Amino acid sequence: MNHTICYISKAKEGLTAIEIENIFATTQTKNNEAGIKGILLFGFGNFFQVLEGDKKVIDDLYLKKICDDNRHYDLLTIINYPIKYPIFSEYSSEFNIVKTNTQLDQVKAYLNQNKLHHLSKNIQRMLNPFLL
Ligand SMILES: Cc1cc2nc3c(=O)[nH]c(=O)nc-3n(C[C@H](O)[C@H](O)[C@H](O)COP(=O)(O)O)c2cc1C
Repeated sequence: MNHTICYISKAKEGLTAIEIENIFATTQTKNNEAGIKGILLFGFGNFFQVLEGDKKVIDDLYLKKICDDNRHYDLLTIINYPIKYPIFSEYSSEFNIVKTNTQLDQVKAYLNQNKLHHLSKNIQRMLNPFLL
């Protein structure tokens, strides 16, 4: 069954550019291998992630790995529910900002579909280009 989880979190104090790159590289490779769709963004010291895919796969990844990862904290789950089809066509991990028009359209569609207005200030700033 298709499912989506979306959360925001704070990057660990002093997380280096190399550590962030490693998170992005692992995430992109592993998620594409596992058939998980979505996006991971980093900006203003926060992560914003969308996961779309099989419920069990997404739940296990989120609860057993991502939530336990000490490279971020204060995870706030914004969305956790079933979906018919994924909005994202692959898994992409980008620093600060999305890179292609397709990604931009996908983030916009995801945000619109899920009416995300209760986001923190930093996340709002990070997502400003999409919320406009
Ligand atoms: C913000 C953040 C997002 C992450 N997202 C994913 C993800 O979507 N998929 C994934 O496989 N690992 C993700 N990770 C990394 C996992 O927590 C874990 O380190 C990685 O999957 C390696 O797990 P393993 O050592 O058990 O193979 C993320 C880590 C952080 C800090």
